[in-house]
Amino acid sequence: MAEYSHLHPATRPYADADTNTRIAWLEKPRWIGYPRAQEILGKLEDLLKHPRQPRMPSMLVIGSTNNGKTNLIHNFAQQHPADENPYGEHILAPVLYIQAPPTPSESGIYSEILSTLFERVPSSSDAARRARVIDLLRKIETKVLIIDELHNVLAGSSVKQQHFLNVIKYLSNELQMSIVGCGTGDLLRAVSIDPQIQNRFTPELLPRWQLDTQFRKLLKSFEMTLPLKQASQLHERLLASKIHAMSEGTIGELSALLNTATKFAIRNEQEQIDEEVLNACGYVAPSDRTQLAANL
Ligand SMILES: Nc1ncnc2c1ncn2[C@@H]1O[C@H](COP(=O)(O)OP(=O)(O)OP(=O)(O)O)[C@@H](O)[C@H]1O
Ligand SMILES: [Mg+2]
Repeated sequence: MAEYSHLHPATRPYADADTNTRIAWLEKPRWIGYPRAQEILGKLEDLLKHPRQPRMPSMLVIGSTNNGKTNLIHNFAQQHPADENPYGEHILAPVLYIQAPPTPSESGIYSEILSTLFERVPSSSDAARRARVIDLLRKIETKVLIIDELHNVLAGSSVKQQHFLNVIKYLSNELQMSIVGCGTGDLLRAVSIDPQIQNRFTPELLPRWQLDTQFRKLLKSFEMTLPLKQASQLHERLLASKIHAMSEGTIGELSALLNTATKFAIRNEQEQIDEEVLNACGYVAPSDRTQLAANL
């Protein structure tokens, strides 16, 4: 096997593998711990360690679509999996991940929590569901409840939005647990209607990537995971600037672009990504997709 010093040790064996194996490796989910992600992970750890008290600190992870919120929060949740607790009556789940219901409904959030825990959802009143959820979360000692897609709260009237935010506040107060809400910028607008929510939830932003040193470091990290035989030097000025323009600053588009370009380079035996590969690989930038739709 050649040395492939431009690749991460885990990627190196795949540079010489057959095409299908290389592509399967490329498409496996990967986690790059870029500095802003590590910083937010550190703050999430602080929430988990925070002593229980009536007013718990909470957090909003805010970023554009496709910019790594769910990946980040999954990474945190995976580091704190439920403990089967074989000698106790219940599992222990210090971190619980749910998605916000599609519209801001009280019964919806209880159903999400209960079904995530494989519990039967009482068909009776909201009060019965609420009591079940409170009892269960207390028993499994949940300390951080993550609610992804919390901007769904906006899909309801302002009365419903307010009621839903009150439910979240109630759960946090009653169980003395922190809430981490993830969503797009609209979420900030939604919580601003309630000062009591606004001052409990610290926003942590995942901004779009700028064409700077951090972005170039990110490209280096990505390059180490792409099973190509030759170094592409994606971080070099011209390539970095082209990749940044094409992917429009989100990590999801960057990942999709580099995967498409890598597959193209493998199938055409080019073994590195250069400007030509980027142009020819068939990737369509997000704003071009919008344009295509507008032209239909
Ligand atoms: N830390 C990371 N390392 C490598 N790739 C990542 C990372 N974070 C995100 N990605 C890539 O970006 C894609 C989008 O990430 P994610 O689903 O977390 O975005 P999101 O902000 O939750 O988007 P949405 O608001 O649409 O739900 C992922 O599928 C993955 O390919
Ligand atoms: Mg998401």
